[in-house]
Amino acid sequence: MYFKKFYGLITTIAIAICLISQSNISVANASEQGTSITNNSQSPQHTLIAQASTGEFTLPPLPYSYDALDEYIDTETMTLHHDKHHAAYVKNLNKAIALYPDLQGQSVEDLLLNLDTLPEDIMTTVQNNGGGHANHTMFWSIMTPDSNGKPTGEIAAAIDSAFGDFATFQTEFNDAGKKRFGSGWAWLVMNDQKELEVTSTANQDSPLMENQYPIMGNDVWEHAYYLKYRNKREDYLNSWWNVVNWDEVNNRFKAANSFFE
Ligand SMILES: [Fe+2]
Repeated sequence: MYFKKFYGLITTIAIAICLISQSNISVANASEQGTSITNNSQSPQHTLIAQASTGEFTLPPLPYSYDALDEYIDTETMTLHHDKHHAAYVKNLNKAIALYPDLQGQSVEDLLLNLDTLPEDIMTTVQNNGGGHANHTMFWSIMTPDSNGKPTGEIAAAIDSAFGDFATFQTEFNDAGKKRFGSGWAWLVMNDQKELEVTSTANQDSPLMENQYPIMGNDVWEHAYYLKYRNKREDYLNSWWNVVNWDEVNNRFKAANSFFE
């Protein structure tokens, strides 16, 4: 019996040590990269998408089950979107980076911020697939089945200040998504004057390419909504607000402020 208690205690300590060392990995990778992005000490994973120690980017798991958002985003779409589309961006990004060992260790954000310094033969691949990896990693994190439906905390006040009220911001954001011809994203970004703006990018282009910090974004590629909403992108845009994770958007708002300090 004493042995069992002792063994249980040792196991608990071992698990705790593992968890602490795991959480330090992303911080260590980030600080070793000399990145221009400032770490948010509360949530460094929100500001840097680092390569693993093997020099590869990895597909992050969804932070909820595939069917968690089913009322608004169906299970099949979530499965294909994460397991096939996002996985393909990661795979293609890794293939490109593998050609240039000097790029190993850079975060995806740094690659996107410095696209024009990359070797010409991988520049477009990194733009499309590095952007795809950054955009989708953000996208999964800012959704939740437990959304409270409207902004909270500092981002709520910042939205009111920049756009007048939440409803006006929503309309502007939805319009950006609706008017994006073909595939792309609607964004709330912070610009280098620390102002909030609604923007849109084509394909998988990241706002980071324009030195804007992506606070939140909605994927308006057909692969994000077509199975449930068919050609009615506007219905998807309206429904999407029901799954926004405002806690995480607040984390990214803090990260945006740090980014431009
Ligand atoms: Fe997507």
